[in-house]
Amino acid sequence: MKVISSLDDAKSFINDHKSDETISLIPTMGNIHSGHLKLINSASSSSLKIVSIYVNELQFDDRNDYISYPRTLADDLSICEDNNVDLVFAPDNSVICKQLDSDKNDLPKFTSYMCGANRPGHFSGVFRIVKFLFKIIEPNYAYFGKKDFQQLLLVKYIASTYFPKLKIIDVDTVRDSNNIALSSRLSKVSRESLHQVKLIFQTLMIMKKKLLSGLEYNDVKESSLLDLEDNNISVEYLDLRSLETLKEQVNINHPCGIFIACYIDNIRLIDNIEI
Ligand code: PAJ
Repeated sequence: MKVISSLDDAKSFINDHKSDETISLIPTMGNIHSGHLKLINSASSSSLKIVSIYVNELQFDDRNDYISYPRTLADDLSICEDNNVDLVFAPDNSVICKQLDSDKNDLPKFTSYMCGANRPGHFSGVFRIVKFLFKIIEPNYAYFGKKDFQQLLLVKYIASTYFPKLKIIDVDTVRDSNNIALSSRLSKVSRESLHQVKLIFQTLMIMKKKLLSGLEYNDVKESSLLDLEDNNISVEYLDLRSLETLKEQVNINHPCGIFIACYIDNIRLIDNIEI
């Protein structure tokens, strides 16, 4: 496995391989866990597997969150090595920031909802790094998780607008035995609070069941919000939304999902369920 941090080295590595190999890209911010691994292992082993690891400052709306984001490069590299990754691209902060700032940024409407409404600049930061990675790595396939569903839609928009030959593959959310969606921020939640984290997906499942049984959306949402708040979970949003446009829905007549962002121990967690 090769590890590259400079832009020029990455470009020449890609030039040497792109004509005779299919390239699969798995972009991450590191602190590799089983969720990331599912993406890595979804990529065909006959393709050239490239994992990028870069904690992208531009997508953090909270400086403390950026500073305290778990950085575990040595462990990440050994996990990648054990999982047949061919190249880890772990670029330098200073080089990348300069590149990204000059890039044009046209965000679709749906990025203004949910995480977009609550984290100013977040999707603009994601847009810039993802477009940059696609430009440098020139992948044939790129893998993204449904856990970050709004990000996944944005990535699909970037691919179809600027990289029409690139195929985006969505990967189902990986959960632990308590149905908690794995995430890097989860490692910051205290052990004592994990019982609260369990309630996130339990709530989504209960809401889904109630909606499918014909109960009114507003009543279902109201009682779930009360339950979560009774358990000291501070809810940022809990919405029923279209899977295509992310517009808010009041019934389940169209393909839709329930999306949540909330704080436990001051740690922001997100999850979703399709209906
Ligand atoms: P990061 O949070 O490291 O996630 C990298 C990829 O792993 C994303 O596509 C995310 O949706 C996926 N992922 C995370 N947890 C998952 C889980 N439990 N199950 C399945 N997939 C999961 O998302 C980012 O980084 C960044 O925004 C990035 C796209 C790299 C741009 O900086």
